[in-house]
Amino acid sequence: MRKLYIAGNWKMNLVPSEAAKYAKELAAATKDAKVKIMIAPTAVCLPAVAEAVKGSKVIVAAQNVNDHEKGAYTGEISCAMLKDIGVTNVILGHSERRQYYGETNEFINKKVLFALANGMDIDLCVGETLEEREGGKLEKVLSDQINIGLDGVTPEQMAHVTIAYEPVWAIGTGKTATPEDANSAHAFIRGLIEKKFGKTVAENQIIQYGGSVKPSNVKELMACEHIDGALVGGASLTLDQFLPIINC
Ligand code: 13P
Repeated sequence: MRKLYIAGNWKMNLVPSEAAKYAKELAAATKDAKVKIMIAPTAVCLPAVAEAVKGSKVIVAAQNVNDHEKGAYTGEISCAMLKDIGVTNVILGHSERRQYYGETNEFINKKVLFALANGMDIDLCVGETLEEREGGKLEKVLSDQINIGLDGVTPEQMAHVTIAYEPVWAIGTGKTATPEDANSAHAFIRGLIEKKFGKTVAENQIIQYGGSVKPSNVKELMACEHIDGALVGGASLTLDQFLPIINC
């Protein structure tokens, strides 16, 4: 039985004082939640948010991490820095990083391997653009993102990997994939995981959906067989939107 996993990617929103206040309220409001909950504030908010949710059910993730231990990498953040402030999760390969910062599957794979080897749990984002979907490239894009992104990962390490399927055309646009479209992409991803890591890993694999998830559409998405959670952007920024999603 796969446990529902609801995550909020705050992207470049909220200043540290706002983020800590909201995180504290969220931690208090989710004391009895049945689902796994994660929030990913921007780097500068991580220490305050990690402190604010200490002892609660809320897991804190970074939105990115470097693939080296330490050294001359200006502007970067290491796994050791995250772990030192109690952050053990990280989102990797988000489409905004692929799109605006040129991150390739090969580069993302280096970070995946490094983060896993350093004891972090990762949330690997995959998903196609509208052009790719309309050009019939959905399966090729997802196959490359999964096969290259997870190259060298062991079946045992997959217990620390969540996949987030986020069709790029549905992110921040208000357009959600239909539950049928999302479920069929998730089923395809589960098939790729089975081919690469075997049936048991595939059956246990948590695959979140992301892209304009809101209180009004979350129930029908989560009811789909292969959708095991959500990675929420805009609607994770306020308690009145995010809480109904968590309690869906
Ligand atoms: P929105 O929920 O704002 O569409 O963002 C989704 C997303 O990119 C989460 O990582």
